[in-house]
Amino acid sequence: MEWTREQRYRRIEDVSKEEYEALKRQVSECPYRQTYHNQPVTGLLNDPNGFSYFNGEYHLFYQWFPLGPVHGVKYWYHTTSTDLIHWKDCGIALEPDQSFDSHGVFSGTAIEHDEKLYLMYTGNSRDEDWVRYPTQCLAVMDKKGEIYKYPEPVIKAAPDNVTEHFRDPKVFKVDDTFYCLVGAEMDNNQGTVVYYESKDLLNWNYKGEVKTTFKGNGFMWECPDYFTQNGKGVMIISPQGMEPDGDKYQNIFQSGYLIGEEIDWKEAVFNHGEFTELDRGFEFYAPQTMVDPQGRHILVGWFGLPGIDCVSDENGWAHCLTLPRELQVVGNKLLQKPVKELQQLRGNRVEVNTQLQNESKSFIGFEGTVYELMANFTSLDAQLVGVKLRTSQDEETLFYYDLRNKKLVLDRSKSGRTCGDEYGVQRKCDFDSNKLTLQIFVDTSSIEIFVNEGEEVFSTRIFTKEESTGIEFFVDGIANLETTIWELNK
Ligand code: FRU
Repeated sequence: MEWTREQRYRRIEDVSKEEYEALKRQVSECPYRQTYHNQPVTGLLNDPNGFSYFNGEYHLFYQWFPLGPVHGVKYWYHTTSTDLIHWKDCGIALEPDQSFDSHGVFSGTAIEHDEKLYLMYTGNSRDEDWVRYPTQCLAVMDKKGEIYKYPEPVIKAAPDNVTEHFRDPKVFKVDDTFYCLVGAEMDNNQGTVVYYESKDLLNWNYKGEVKTTFKGNGFMWECPDYFTQNGKGVMIISPQGMEPDGDKYQNIFQSGYLIGEEIDWKEAVFNHGEFTELDRGFEFYAPQTMVDPQGRHILVGWFGLPGIDCVSDENGWAHCLTLPRELQVVGNKLLQKPVKELQQLRGNRVEVNTQLQNESKSFIGFEGTVYELMANFTSLDAQLVGVKLRTSQDEETLFYYDLRNKKLVLDRSKSGRTCGDEYGVQRKCDFDSNKLTLQIFVDTSSIEIFVNEGEEVFSTRIFTKEESTGIEFFVDGIANLETTIWELNK
């Protein structure tokens, strides 16, 4: 179905109760609904927003178009949790109800100040000629959960040398000063991050560009994020328009990090290393990080990509969020591990220790559509070691270590129904190790694979038949295998 502009810019109050209930029913009948991932009740979910800890709870908002699986007029939808795993549905937080956000309450972040949660977001509005006017706006949530929007944007227009692509404020505090990073496209069509400073979150002074050496890489850098850990500064960006380079940058758009010295915000010169993709799989974009009361840096991403359809579109909804990952800076690398709270979901467990020799093997008790799987391959004397997931006679999703070529490979050529095949059905990255440790989370329509304690992560949505439940381990050569599977109970 082609969606007209009128249909994309309809608001939830413009449709009848009956129409909306029918959409809800259609969504709930979808065979691809996830069981332990944050997903929309109807319509399209994209970026995580306002990820924070406030008043004894984690808050995780997200971009939402309620009325169908397309990018229409965006709302912020609100969920809360005390354990990062069980999310309470708090409904709509921010609606596109002001002249400055009439065409979408776009992405942004949250920060606690004066016992309130300040939500800073992009107001997206357009005029009759469809010219876009981005502004940066503020809303405040009190401890009762009541949200009040400031009547005027706090940053009323883009800097002079920036195009209409000026969005996704990331707010943080250093000593007694607030900083706000904004993703931008410069007049010369280069992506960048510009920044502002403020003492009160209301009055912002423009400071200029963050001076990175990562230049010429894309026309727009969306959703900037920044944090410091172990004396290092980490900047996360989602650049649009990078060209593929070998195995890298195969998705339509990328999401990755730069690690360097902590940024001194007087000059904002950032000396950093290489741009590294956060996820080596198929769908991952626009992540946000937060620091929780235990001091952990936690990241959640959008388990989707702009410009790519989703198989579940036919049931009136699209996309979900990734599992939360704990981040650790080790040298010049960012390790990403699933948060330990996920262990709460573990139910029945089956364990096998064995040696595999030129074979592909399945074990009793190793099967399902929703589970966590640990597989530890050691004493590798092999060309290939790996695992096939969600198998049946004609379906399988393959993940393996190709020791000859020193690559990790995720192959979804036989995963069932797909979207975005024009961007390829395999993803690879360089890898060199004498062991392969996999922690894998399978949900109804997704797989997230954490390799060697967070050195690499591969995520993919899969639209596999319900009866494709098999798991097989394979080795071309010899390897020891210790593996455990847990049923996951929500
Ligand atoms: C990234 C993005 C952001 C924007 C939002 C709109 O996916 O394009 O730049 O704020 O989505 O939904």
